[in-house]
Amino acid sequence: MKLTIIGTGYVGLVTGTCFAEVGHQVICVDNNEEKIKTLKAGHMPIYEPGLEELVKKNVAAGRLSFTSSTKEGVEKSDVIFIAVPTPPQPDGSVDLSFMEGVSREIAQAMTSYKIVVDKSTVPVNTGKKVAETIKRYCKAKVDVDVISNPEFLREGFAVDDFMKPDRVVIGVASQRPVAAMKEVYAPYNAPIIVTDINSAELIKHAANSFLALKISYINAVSVICEASGANVMEVANGMGMDRRIGRQFLDASLGFGGSCFPKDLSAFINISEQLGYNFGLLKEVQRINAEQMDRFVKKILETMWVLKNKKLGVLGLAFKQNTDDVRMSPAIDLCLRLQKEGAILRVHDPKAMEKAKAVLQNVTYVEDMNAVAEGCDALIVATEWPVFKKLDVERARKAMTHPIMFDGRNMFDVDEMEKIGFIYKSIGR
Ligand code: UDX
Repeated sequence: MKLTIIGTGYVGLVTGTCFAEVGHQVICVDNNEEKIKTLKAGHMPIYEPGLEELVKKNVAAGRLSFTSSTKEGVEKSDVIFIAVPTPPQPDGSVDLSFMEGVSREIAQAMTSYKIVVDKSTVPVNTGKKVAETIKRYCKAKVDVDVISNPEFLREGFAVDDFMKPDRVVIGVASQRPVAAMKEVYAPYNAPIIVTDINSAELIKHAANSFLALKISYINAVSVICEASGANVMEVANGMGMDRRIGRQFLDASLGFGGSCFPKDLSAFINISEQLGYNFGLLKEVQRINAEQMDRFVKKILETMWVLKNKKLGVLGLAFKQNTDDVRMSPAIDLCLRLQKEGAILRVHDPKAMEKAKAVLQNVTYVEDMNAVAEGCDALIVATEWPVFKKLDVERARKAMTHPIMFDGRNMFDVDEMEKIGFIYKSIGR
């Protein structure tokens, strides 16, 4: 099929590339000319495992191309996907100006029937507004079907998540576009759920808020574990073996971050408020998350007493493993708080150091993770990069003035670390 994706961020670029990979003819559009130039030159604007290879392969096969012209994208395709940012506003509501702008651009370029698919995460009732906007600004007398098709991609696993989805959600106002959408997704052999537009939009916010709730739940349990001498990892394993609960998203941590959970939670709380419901449960999820970071900083301060001029090594800057994304990263938040206390930081991340430089200055960026601990008074694990498990802890201990480790991701074994000689403090154990 001929598909156009407007917006080449994490979602748009992965979506377009994975559509091309299964044989569709795909045009990726972005109004950022620099980004289009970068992509045309074969370079990636983001790090996402497996993406670069797939982009190169599909460009070479002639199935994937890039342009900054929305008009070209609309004219040449039957189905137009919108994957533009929907950033939060200070009051937690969603800024829909990019959605509105792109809806108008599509309308102005339309000369024949199109299916317009919203992939961006939006408040319930946005689909209706997109349809109204397109009809208002379209000069040609042509039909349009607006669809909601939320994405459920995790950064760092986005290609895999796209190629092997648990489900595909398609929210429609009529049956007319359903067959085409089923054809778009047929190669992925995933269950396809067809709903009304509002339900599809709500599935996204409800699912992400539920996952955030799961993390806050286990983080709250981790506090009880610490107070009672239990081990949160054992509790999570025991809970997770119940298939109704599941083990995923039960990893206690210094809190969740990223460009989705914090934003989607605020948005869902705000949407609920506008619809007359006080979603107190989700406000508690936010509160527990913020408190989890406070608790971690307090733990560091209690052990180290004064941080002024103490040298701290920090492993991890990305908001989670397998990504170079530092937006709303708990690791960055932590570094800034430690700096405020006067600590001197040596930091490392396998992929996110370049992006971190824009938001974290006056630290030493260390290329080799095994060299971070040199001369440090304590070492901190802030991101769950699997490679950190391979840290040469013996070398780290010898290189530090004091072998103290604060593990915000429970990466190491408590007994082993203590045997090596570390004062080792983790989460909920
Ligand atoms: C999330 C959703 O998973 C995805 O479906 C949606 O489309 C976008 O938002 P993402 O933000 O990429 O994806 O990351 P995710 O893997 O969900 O992790 C979010 C945050 O929660 C990270 O900071 C991660 O470290 C943290 N986390 C995750 C935990 O602290 N504990 C866990 O058990 C799982």
